[in-house]
Amino acid sequence: MKRSEVLLSPVIVQTRQYAFCADNAKFIAAPAWEARFSSSIDMKFQGSETYVATQDLMLAVNASITLQRPLLVKGEPGTGKTMLAEEVAQALSLPLLQWHIKSTTKAQQGLYEYDAVSRLRDSQLGDDRVKDIHNYIVRGVLWQAFAAEQPLALLIDEIDKADIEFPNDLLRELDRMEFHCYETRETIRARHRPLVFITSNNEKELPDAFLRRCFFHYIKFPEPETMQRIVGVHFPHLKRDLLSAAMKVFYDVRGLPGLKKKPSTSELLDWLKLLVAEDISLSALQSADSKISVPPLVGALLKNEQDVTLFEKLVFMNQRNR
Ligand SMILES: Nc1ncnc2c1ncn2[C@@H]1O[C@H](COP(=O)(O)OP(=O)(O)OP(=O)(O)O)[C@@H](O)[C@H]1O
Ligand SMILES: [Mg+2]
Repeated sequence: MKRSEVLLSPVIVQTRQYAFCADNAKFIAAPAWEARFSSSIDMKFQGSETYVATQDLMLAVNASITLQRPLLVKGEPGTGKTMLAEEVAQALSLPLLQWHIKSTTKAQQGLYEYDAVSRLRDSQLGDDRVKDIHNYIVRGVLWQAFAAEQPLALLIDEIDKADIEFPNDLLRELDRMEFHCYETRETIRARHRPLVFITSNNEKELPDAFLRRCFFHYIKFPEPETMQRIVGVHFPHLKRDLLSAAMKVFYDVRGLPGLKKKPSTSELLDWLKLLVAEDISLSALQSADSKISVPPLVGALLKNEQDVTLFEKLVFMNQRNR
């Protein structure tokens, strides 16, 4: 059989990989094409006006661009994992495709789905479309990303929500950036290797084979200095003394041992928004003897009754010791 060598784009370089041979329906070793970023050298992420990226986060993003491997981002909820993908895509002027994973999501849905029901219905109605199976292939996010004319960014958000087989089922697709569509008998290869972000909240362990294919970064909970910059991005006109009092309360609450759910960046931002909206005075955040007290609108920071009770107990004990 003659193998077709189709030049997908001028930036694609040749490498050894497998091509699908339709007539005997198996994979054979063949020279094929590996898609690369068209302008990887120019693509350097240096943070953005709306997103505060630490030096090590910028290094991680740029390392994943250089290695052409997905960037696996972990971190506490609300530490800017999803937003990172949005911001990098915007900063590098790349369109962003998003795939939000749920417990029921299957890897195949990211590739394509064959809509057999519609085809059956159309055949009963005598619709001409039925003759072409392509009309019933619903492209998933990965297919769309691979088929895109221009380089783009792809976010696979909260991969740990899916079952354990999910990451295993995507190994080849993310590694070689290709997959086979059995219904249409075609192999879909990325024209441009997308910049892939994968986020996880650590609800499940990811398989080693999957980890091997990624560049990993853990977003550490921001230090007060970084947090001040993050707050500054969202509330540029916040009064300094209110900010420092609120930050002290916030880090005190976070430091409370035994909390089930520590408040994170997004909770601090919500809380500050409320403090401003409700015009909470500075004195409500500061106790004269610097003893701990229940902060106003604590529901923005603590999200379950055990944590609120724990906090109230601590305040009670604190007051008794006066
Ligand atoms: N570094 C940052 N710079 C600016 N804003 C930030 C930063 N980190 C977090 N935020 C703010 O926190 C909010 C939550 O961020 P995001 O949704 O990306 O968190 P996440 O880590 O994806 O959370 P989850 O795990 O719950 O999905 C954002 O909308 C943004 O307002
Ligand atoms: Mg998220």
